[in-house]
Amino acid sequence: MEYSELIARRYSVRAYKSDPVEDEKLQKVLEAARLAPTASNRQPFQIIVIHTQGRKDELQRIYRPEWFVQPPLILCACAVPIQGWVRSSDQRRLLDVDLGIVMDHLILEATNQGLGTCWIAAFNPEAARQILELPDEVEPVIFTPLGYPADTLGVKKRKPLSELVRYERW
Ligand SMILES: Cc1cc2nc3c(=O)[nH]c(=O)nc-3n(C[C@H](O)[C@H](O)[C@H](O)COP(=O)(O)O)c2cc1C
Repeated sequence: MEYSELIARRYSVRAYKSDPVEDEKLQKVLEAARLAPTASNRQPFQIIVIHTQGRKDELQRIYRPEWFVQPPLILCACAVPIQGWVRSSDQRRLLDVDLGIVMDHLILEATNQGLGTCWIAAFNPEAARQILELPDEVEPVIFTPLGYPADTLGVKKRKPLSELVRYERW
């Protein structure tokens, strides 16, 4: 798919079919995450692949809406803060930027493969830690369901460019 078509087609899918996701497609999605740029190339992340079959009640403790557990797979992008790059001049941590890029790579490749995704930040971190048995140094940041959409793209509500862009005066 052409890039401009890809970014126009991606949307937050909030209804999924239970159809299986082919392993070849999953691997392409994970490879897109692997190729993402990160500050100083530290790659301070881990992606957890979660199978929903037989675990729906448990997984809904992480995020309540039913559509979260409808597809066969959920991915969790985790940060490994001790591996992240910190700008020495002001100690600013770039970890969340890294994780955002990783997740965007992954999500756009999923769209390219005809799969649906939805960024999920409003989950219960304690439940995620417990259910995924995360070690202390690994922090869950964003989840997404991964499966075939059972809904369709609606109208994208976005601010006009005039509100979002300022041209520097030359
Ligand atoms: C960092 C981030 C966190 C988000 N967290 C949630 C969430 O917890 N639950 C949810 O339903 N949508 C979540 N979203 C999806 C946004 O609501 C959605 O991307 C936005 O409304 C634009 O719609 P679109 O993705 O369909 O273009 C999140 C998006 C981002 C980028």
